[in-house]
Parts: sequence; C-alpha cells; structure tokens
Amino acid sequence: MFENEFFVFDSFPRLKRLPPYALAVINQKKQEMRKRGFDVIDLGMGNPNVPAPEEVVRKVKEAVEDPKNHRYSVVQGLKKLREEIAKRYKLLWGVELDPESEVLVVNGTKMGFFQLMLAILSNGDAVVVPEPAYPLHLYAPMIAGADVRTFSMLNGHFFEGLEKVVKTTYPRPKAIVISFPNNPTSRCVELDFLKKVVDFCLSEGIWLIHDFAYADIVFDGYKAPSIFEVKDAKKIAIEFYSMSKGFSMAGFRVGFALGNPTLISALYKIKSWTEYGVFQPVQIAAIVALREAGDYPKKTAEIYRKRRDVVASYLKKIGWDFETPRGSMFIWAKIPEKFASMGSVKFSEFLLEKAEVAVAPGVAFGQSGEGYVRLALVENDQRIKQAMRNIKRLMESYG
Ligand SMILES: Cc1ncc(COP(=O)(O)O)c(C=O)c1O
Repeated sequence: MFENEFFVFDSFPRLKRLPPYALAVINQKKQEMRKRGFDVIDLGMGNPNVPAPEEVVRKVKEAVEDPKNHRYSVVQGLKKLREEIAKRYKLLWGVELDPESEVLVVNGTKMGFFQLMLAILSNGDAVVVPEPAYPLHLYAPMIAGADVRTFSMLNGHFFEGLEKVVKTTYPRPKAIVISFPNNPTSRCVELDFLKKVVDFCLSEGIWLIHDFAYADIVFDGYKAPSIFEVKDAKKIAIEFYSMSKGFSMAGFRVGFALGNPTLISALYKIKSWTEYGVFQPVQIAAIVALREAGDYPKKTAEIYRKRRDVVASYLKKIGWDFETPRGSMFIWAKIPEKFASMGSVKFSEFLLEKAEVAVAPGVAFGQSGEGYVRLALVENDQRIKQAMRNIKRLMESYG
C-alpha cells in the first residue's frame, strides 16, 4: 500500500534509492489468487516452515511467565548465550571466540547486518557485493549512504570479478560482503575459496563480512566452512550466524555477530543507540537450543535434503538447467530456453497463474539474476510434490 504513495518517495530521499521489493509483485499476486480460492503453493519467499525444537518452545513459555524477563535485556546479549555460541563454534569449526570482545547477540542477522552497515558506512563509501545477492546485502549499504559495486558470480570467474571491481573502484571499497551457502544461488564453497577471499581482503586492507545464515543447512556430507577457520581472518572479518535456519527459530529473531573486535564494538555502539537487546525469554530459549538441541540443525537439514531431492528429480525430468545444491534452502534454476524471452518476473507470474506455484524471480537478487528463478524448499513434501507435478504438466502442455 505505502509503496504506491509517490509523496513518500519524493519527501524521503533515502527511500528513493530503494526499489519496490521485486518479490512483493509476486507476493501480491499470490495473495490475490488465494483470495480467489486458488491453493497457491509458495516456493517464493524463503520463510522456513520447520517447527523450532520442542525444548525451545517449552523454555520460552516458561521464561515469559517470569516478570524479570519482561524488562529490557542487555544490548550485547546474555553472557551465557554468548558463551554457548562460542562453544558451538569451537565444537563445529574448531574456532576460538572470546564471548566478551568477539561475540554479540543480534535481533536476527538481518537486523544485525543492517546495523553494522549503519555503523561503519557513510556517504561516499563503497562496498562490493557479488551478485546475485540477498537483497539486503545490496540495499543496507545504500541505506547507510554508501555506493554498492557488484560483479556477477554466475560466470565462474569469481576472483577475476572481485579483483577487477576492487581495482577499478575509487575510493577504495571499505568492505566486501559474501555469503556461502548462498542465497539465492545455493552455491557452496570450500575453505580454500574463503582463504583466497580473506587473503585478498588482508592484502587490500578491506573489511570482510560473511553472512553465514545457512551454515547448518548442508547435505551429502558437505560441511560449510566458517570464515574463522582461515588463519588471520579475525583481523578483518565479521561473520553472522543465525538461529533462524538450522534451529528453525526464524520468528524468534535471534542470531549472532562474531569476530573482529573493532567491527563488533562498532556494531555494539549502534545497537546501544537503537535497541535494548533481544527479548530475554528468546535469549534464554536460544541458550537451551544450543545446549540441549545442538543436533537439531542436522534434522532440519535432512528435511530440506529430502525436499531438494524431490524438486531436483522433477526438474531433471523436465530438462531444467540447475545445479543440485549441497546447501541452503533453495534451488536456483535457469528459465527454460522456450520461455527465456519472458524474463524472470513474467516467467514467475506465468508459473503462478498457470501452475499455481509461487517462485522468486532471479532479478529480485540483482540484474545478474535475470534469466533465473529461485525455488525455496519451504512447503511440506506433499505440497512440494504437487508443485512439481503442476510445473511438469504446464511445461509439457507447451511441448
Ligand atoms: C542470506 C540471508 N541472510 C540473513 C537472512 C535473515 O536471517 P535472520 O532471520 O537471522 O535475520 C536470510 C533470510 O532469508 C538470508 O537468506
């Protein structure tokens, strides 16, 4: 509703730089169709549909009964929670983190990332973001006043693209934002890849921000590396770890910023001016999640793995061009040749109208995402199968 009010856009310059959320077009259409009685299957928005661990639900209920948890909490997050995430990093990635100077609890990593951009950027700064990208990675720096320089990571020449854009940007970029396993492309990388990025940032003197939201959603024996497994990464890097995906606590709004103490204290400063910490019952429940349900993310990943297999087998049958992902909750597929001229928004609308399946148009993740769609594995097995049958039927009806 508000997006249509030109008045708002004209009066508030910061908003002028923000395009309407491309996914919103599909969402609106999806809602209209649902109102008209169509049972649209939503593989559009990446909203996890796996429940949070039982222990977490029980604990949050109990904690909310206690009036001392109704007060403002602490901006940096409860000490025990910071200690628990440090233990998880030690256990899973062999990484040492000091809970006092290298860990902050954030109100979801989306907010944490946004606050970090506000803390470290200002007008005239430049940030490098490989495309396609999670939209906030492109627009949070812009909201903070910075310019965003992109390059496509779809052509298989990541480091050439990175080097070129850094060398040709003036003033020198202040930060690089990466995220693996990646949303939307589902690309996964090995430690060597992260090492190359860290070495590049160290030699160029550029901050490195790694959004590790899909750390736990990995399949087929693949283990996603943390940036801090790379020697000296802490000198320049911060990593965001989310409780939303592996622990399926998306609505709880809790995650972590970890790593370089200078970036951590910059984020702390902006946090202390803008909030009072995550609701305490949620932090207590997150402590329980990490202590008592540390293996829950493996079960979550298995659920997504099965869904991935269903989608991948159907898409193969109908000849779509995609790579079977080893991580994330997404399948990133090329629009079939026959429909390529439609572009990703029109093709997504076409799938919505004719197959009653919502997907995300690739262009929602930056210009280089044009020509692709993203399918999020966020419906149950039966509905995912139904979605795939619908798409298969539609494709077959066009030969
Ligand atoms: C790459 C990426 N980062 C961050 C988020 C948001 O995570 P959180 O719920 O921790 O804010 C998402 C959610 O879709 C995401 O895809």
